[in-house]
Amino acid sequence: MKSTLVLKTFDTNNDIKDIETAAEILRNGGIVAIPTETVYGLAADAFDSEAVKKIFEAKGRPQDNPLIVHISDFEQIYSIAREVPEKAKALADAFWPGPLTIILPKKAEIPSETSGGLDTVAVRMPSHEIARKIISLSCPLAAPSANISGFPSPTSFDHVEADMTGRADAICNGGDCDVGVESTVITLATEIPVLLRPGGVTLEQLKSILGEVKVADAVLNPMKKDEKAESPGMKYKHYSPKAQIQIVRGNLKEFADFVNSSDCDGVLCFEGEEEYFPEKITVTFGKEDDSLSQAQRLFDALRELDEKGAKNVFSRSPAENGVGLAVCNRLYRAAAFRFINAVKKPIVGLTGPTGAGKGYVSEYLKKLGCYVSDTDAIAREITMTDSPFLGILARDFGQDIIDENGELKRKLLAERAFETKENQSLLNSLMHPEIIRISVERCNEALEKGAVAAVIDAPLLFEAGADKHCDTVIAVVAPREIRIERIMKRDNITHEQALSRISVQHDDDFYTSKSEFTVRSYEPYKVEDELEGFVQKYLGQVM
Ligand code: TXA
Ligand code: MG
Repeated sequence: MKSTLVLKTFDTNNDIKDIETAAEILRNGGIVAIPTETVYGLAADAFDSEAVKKIFEAKGRPQDNPLIVHISDFEQIYSIAREVPEKAKALADAFWPGPLTIILPKKAEIPSETSGGLDTVAVRMPSHEIARKIISLSCPLAAPSANISGFPSPTSFDHVEADMTGRADAICNGGDCDVGVESTVITLATEIPVLLRPGGVTLEQLKSILGEVKVADAVLNPMKKDEKAESPGMKYKHYSPKAQIQIVRGNLKEFADFVNSSDCDGVLCFEGEEEYFPEKITVTFGKEDDSLSQAQRLFDALRELDEKGAKNVFSRSPAENGVGLAVCNRLYRAAAFRFINAVKKPIVGLTGPTGAGKGYVSEYLKKLGCYVSDTDAIAREITMTDSPFLGILARDFGQDIIDENGELKRKLLAERAFETKENQSLLNSLMHPEIIRISVERCNEALEKGAVAAVIDAPLLFEAGADKHCDTVIAVVAPREIRIERIMKRDNITHEQALSRISVQHDDDFYTSKSEFTVRSYEPYKVEDELEGFVQKYLGQVM
């Protein structure tokens, strides 16, 4: 354990001695926790590789995660960056000093310890007076957030004291941080600028200066397994309190109903909402319609959850625009991207024999805001030219079912499949799971995007086992004569042909006995009346 000097530097005029002490420690190769307007940083001389190594040690930070170099005067940028493009100057004009970090090609003088071995370097000019004064009295400072790696960044002196006592040579007290989340990080080392980490300077503000700005995928999504991080910081677990957090999507009422009927012990909610959760540990992070206040409070709130002993926490879901993008970026990581919908939106099976009027019902459900996945269409899709699934069919039914243009000879496949009962069930055992997989995947995507329900429209719902993926099933039926008439018209076939198709199908009882709802899709019944019970039970809450 190091002995850590505590410096009280509330005021740049009165406490200039403490500021000078901090600068001196830094000039001599020490590490000092300093306040900035975003979060506290753990600083060292950016040009001194030995000093920078101490930061990594103190934080327990992975060596390949590069640091931001903090400057107090724009001219210092030329000692750090190899090139300073016009775009960088425009950004500096607009947002420096302030919570924006710009990534540029690195000068050789910046040691690889500072840049995490990269050929680029991150630069930022903080607006906090104490930070700037310390830099101007010492040198450009490499400084990551002053937390122990993986934990929430410190936004108050208490946080720094808890994390850095015994680890830093000194800690400076600069009060609470204004912004509360770390700076926005943008790279200008790519052709089109990319936002790598959202922060106090918003995407909208960046676009107003730069025009086009891409947003790195990892800003709101978990990194995929083999994906290469555009910014090394993206790949590490971040901001996590000890409590397990899950983000619940829904409005306040839906959230409260969901939380109060669950056995979670903690709630992360907005100011003024605590009274809804009389039996839970509550911690607030800002006001619902004020992202700035959420940013300011978030890290303190995460620490507070641990202090109050919450283990299993449900969190409100903030808006993703403006500074809200930064709030969500941190909160989603703290929650390890675990989301739940307060109101569970259903996956609905829709089935019935040919000609019963399933198509009509599915059109009506679409009008209500349901997503409908058409399994017949998926069956055609996976047997189109270039579909990888054709290879699987050819393996079992012969390479010659595919012609020289890569097209499936549907007739030949049908002949082979119908040769024996075994062949027929082999074809089904290949087709059905693939169709269900795609269908369920699309349903979940649609629900994520806001559909009120997702419907799997499948004549063979039960035979394929797709009903196991459904929360409820609707069977559509109509009398034989009506069905015969409909399919004669629809497919332009004779009465006899229609009859022979219908005769191989199950009777109504097969469908209705396995379904929660039955819709009679013929005069004098009306589909909307027939679906009333379903709408009330399954869509009532979500519409
Ligand atoms: O607000 C802030 O930026 C605070 C205060 C102290 O200034 N600092 C801070 O530093 O948040 P740190 O180290 O916790 O986060 C720096 C982020 C990391 O995600 C890192 O991977 C990324 O910036 N970064 C740094 N240099 C980079 C580079 N050359 N290329 C891509 N990403 C870089
Ligand atoms: Mg950090």
